[in-house]
Amino acid sequence: MKKQIALLAGDGIGPDIMKEAVRVLEAIGERFGHSFSFTPAAVGGAGYDVYGTPLPEETLKACKDSDAILFGAVGGPKWDSVPKELRPEQGILGLRKELNLFANLRPVNVYDALVSASTLKEEVIRNVDVLIVRELTGGIYFGTPSERREINGEEGVVDTLVYKRSEMERIIRIGFESALLRSKKVTSVDKANVLESSRMWREVAEEVSKDFPEVELEHMLVDNAAMQLVRSPRSFDVIVTENLFGDILSDEASMISGSLGLLPSASLSGKGPGLFEPIHGSAPDIAGLGQANPLAAIASVAMLLKYGFEWEEEAQVVDQAIAEALATGARTSDIAEGGEQVFSTSAMTNAVLKALKASTAV
Ligand code: IPM
Ligand code: MN
Repeated sequence: MKKQIALLAGDGIGPDIMKEAVRVLEAIGERFGHSFSFTPAAVGGAGYDVYGTPLPEETLKACKDSDAILFGAVGGPKWDSVPKELRPEQGILGLRKELNLFANLRPVNVYDALVSASTLKEEVIRNVDVLIVRELTGGIYFGTPSERREINGEEGVVDTLVYKRSEMERIIRIGFESALLRSKKVTSVDKANVLESSRMWREVAEEVSKDFPEVELEHMLVDNAAMQLVRSPRSFDVIVTENLFGDILSDEASMISGSLGLLPSASLSGKGPGLFEPIHGSAPDIAGLGQANPLAAIASVAMLLKYGFEWEEEAQVVDQAIAEALATGARTSDIAEGGEQVFSTSAMTNAVLKALKASTAV
């Protein structure tokens, strides 16, 4: 089957990891008889440098015309002084909004080979399997006004948190639907002791839960959730939460798996192409040095195959090849422990490709 994939490498290590992700896609194509046509497009600082905007029209069109979007990372100190509406981050935020990618799935798993690589104790993190379902197109990220203004004669600032009930409902529903396929528990995270938006969120979670009698619903305040995530991460199954809380908790949760360089994500709209990206940033300090861990991008390829194309077997082959590469000792610098050989970005991908080619059907 032929699929069109938009490749938005972006900034920093974005191009480094994108190259590796494409190698894995090509290997999958070869193995399963699929062919891909790739459309590279500029985004973020790279878009700004060439077209004067982080989300050029051509890029948006390439995304809309594709079956799926593979995204690298955006941002870096180089663009610190550009006007806020032209910042590289507006590239990804604009895409999420334009393509209505409201549902962000961020799975957090621990690879057996890496249980000792985490800063957390092995007995705490072994067999962790959490899915963070993050709302992605609303909340304080997108509310207006968002501006500096004078407040009682002093310099001040306003950001605005806005949600419609329907926006809460659709993402919470995805949380429950995901839980149905897993351990049937939803933790809805909010700050209902302080925020009105969170009190409404809690109400909506209660309502939606009536449609899922077999799924257990618990409410948790976000400060407590941040604590419980490192205290007893195995007590979570699906976490569903609003945009900003999900952003923060998912970075925290990545350390359960050992490195920010391991975690993928899928951003879905229900119709139209999904966007698949590592949750890590652009790491400008190591851009182009061949040090970046490509596994989050490669795991994002697996999510693309699974959620974008509904190719379960292809996705499993990629996920297993990652686990296998780690089991054979492949380590980039972010996950290497004292004395372990450090693999470059491409050497890590080579290890994944070797495992992928050697694997038999799942
Ligand atoms: C993420 C990133 C983005 C976010 C940035 C780059 C705008 O941190 O995808 O988690 O805050 O959503
Ligand atoms: Mn983030």
